Amino acid sequence: MSNEKKYSPIKVELEKDKNYGWCTCAHSSNQPFCDGSHKAHNATPSMRFSVEETKTYNMCTCKLTSNPPFCDGSHK
Ligand code: FES
Repeated sequence: MSNEKKYSPIKVELEKDKNYGWCTCAHSSNQPFCDGSHKAHNATPSMRFSVEETKTYNMCTCKLTSNPPFCDGSHK
């Protein structure tokens, strides 16, 4: 499997004003969200975020984006 395939962005519908935790360490089994795996790996904690509009977002899974938690094309 190529890195590009493995780390493609994921489209997720996010709800306005709901609190989310974006995985920053890449160990989560529930990408793009944190599942607490960073604790076992002594890795970086999640980034808390919310959105101002309920819609589908293109979420980064490669962790290289300059606009977390959203994909900015850096995975290519
Ligand atoms: S998945 Fe596209 S920038 Fe990370």
